[in-house]
Amino acid sequence: MDGLFITFEGGEGSGKTTQIQCLKEWFKNNVESCDLCLTREPGGTHGAESIRDLLLNGSAGKWQPATEAMLMSASRHEHVLSVIQPALGRGDIVICDRFTDSTHVYQGYVGGVNERLLEGLDQLSCNGLVPDLTLLLDIDSNEGLARTVERGVEENRFEIKGKAFHQRVRKGFIERAGRHPNRIVTINADQPTYDVALDIINAVKRLLLSNGVLLKVPC
Ligand code: TYD
Repeated sequence: MDGLFITFEGGEGSGKTTQIQCLKEWFKNNVESCDLCLTREPGGTHGAESIRDLLLNGSAGKWQPATEAMLMSASRHEHVLSVIQPALGRGDIVICDRFTDSTHVYQGYVGGVNERLLEGLDQLSCNGLVPDLTLLLDIDSNEGLARTVERGVEENRFEIKGKAFHQRVRKGFIERAGRHPNRIVTINADQPTYDVALDIINAVKRLLLSNGVLLKVPC
């Protein structure tokens, strides 16, 4: 059986990393015999992580948005072919921190790269793969940025781009979710961690039940 492909999306500080860990725990405790593959973009393979370094380090204006889109897609192609599709072929549940929606928002909606060209890049890089479910963690961009500052880790090229940029990112994700209502579920990420996790679990349960995946306890 083919596995299921779940992606997480959202602006900076939306809590994706924490929520992916919560979901991993939930899978361990609640889903019969399932192997998880947790991964991220840009990155996920040795070669794609090298491209990630190029993309995330350096000055904010180091790359043109179209260059970023091509580098993101190059890294994605490696990732899809050597990690994601093989895992799905084994029947794993693949959970990926960011995927094509990030490119459509950061490089497309915000960066101005033509949507049709990005769809062409998706065709080239994704080998037909589309997520079964995308969880968009939505939070006010200033609140999200404040969380990244609190975390105290060094900011990457995208995080230093300023408030207007991040407000556009949020709007771009909301707009994209409106265009893919069957795939993208918007989660209010401005709630306590536990409540965000519950909303995510409910969306994931719906996906699992509609695909005949067995839960350990009736919920
Ligand atoms: P990362 O440190 O992984 O941050 P986050 O925890 O917010 O995911 O940085 C990844 C950055 O790359 C993030 O700022 C968004 C950006 N990005 C794009 O601009 N386009 C893309 O296609 C992807 C996958 C990420």
